Amino acid sequence: MADVFQPGLLRGQHAIITGAGSGINQHIAERFAAQGAAVSIVGRNLERAEAAAATIVARGGQARGHSADVRDFDALARAFAQAVADHGPVDICIAGAAGNFVSDAASMSSNGFRTVIDIDLVGTFNTFRAVLPMLNPEESHLLAISAVQSGMPTAAQAHVCAAKAGIDMLVRTLSIEWAGRGIRCNGIAPGPVADTEGMNRLAPGGSASWDRLLQGIPLQRAGRRDEIADLALFLCSGAARYIHGTVIAIDGGQSNLGSLPFGAMLLESASAR
Ligand code: HXC
Repeated sequence: MADVFQPGLLRGQHAIITGAGSGINQHIAERFAAQGAAVSIVGRNLERAEAAAATIVARGGQARGHSADVRDFDALARAFAQAVADHGPVDICIAGAAGNFVSDAASMSSNGFRTVIDIDLVGTFNTFRAVLPMLNPEESHLLAISAVQSGMPTAAQAHVCAAKAGIDMLVRTLSIEWAGRGIRCNGIAPGPVADTEGMNRLAPGGSASWDRLLQGIPLQRAGRRDEIADLALFLCSGAARYIHGTVIAIDGGQSNLGSLPFGAMLLESASAR
């Protein structure tokens, strides 16, 4: 399909993306770099972050990998300061780092629940709070990667549902508090996306559980990484200049149908482990 976006849409802009060493966030980083942004890739694993940056550089883009765990505010602030030294004030910051595993709540330890809350929800707050003094004071955009579970209670996902619901409220609250600083703030809530670490953990492609998962999606297919990246690009572009404080689902209609097919499949796969 032809690219519907104007080439060079993000030329001269600096985007920091957490969790961009793999999956959806890596694809967003590649898309933004191809549109002219200098991209700072922040990940827990430095090798993966650097490899993702090297792929972009090999294609003629600007990127550098940095290591930080989003649960560690000081490490994050240090990584962001390095990124600003490279590419200047931050125009776009995407909080994408996330963790997930399949477990029913009765089998989940307190630490397991807290770990996902810490990575997803506290990690999103840390990301936005750490980048705040480094944002372009004239205009900037914050984007949180939520998930369809934020508004769709899903069995075997109590930790993710709670964390992502918190992220959605954080986005909405920051949109009130930080609008006066020239900051637009939004989120996107993907449903199942093919070829990502998250989905490979929940339902490996081609498996029986994958087939059942697709039955719970009106469009009868999983999302693609390029479709998520297109939405991220739109929201971070001037075309979305009046969209503020909202979380947009991109799920093939899954959240309208409800979580029962997905959750039942996850519960079965959790009890089979
Ligand atoms: C039950 C588990 C578990 C499992 C970990 N735990 N895996 N409990 N079932 N399968 C528990 C551990 O026993 C421990 O509790 C606690 O969680 C912390 O585990 P650690 O391994 O020490 O934590 P850590 O190394 O920080 O790893 C975090 C993680 C891991 C979330 C557990 O899966 C991870 O790093 N994931 C990052 C990559 C990832 O998941 N990406 C996908 C994101 S996709 P105890 O009590 O034993 O100490 C996504 C959206 C999906 O989020 C949307 C789909 C539609």
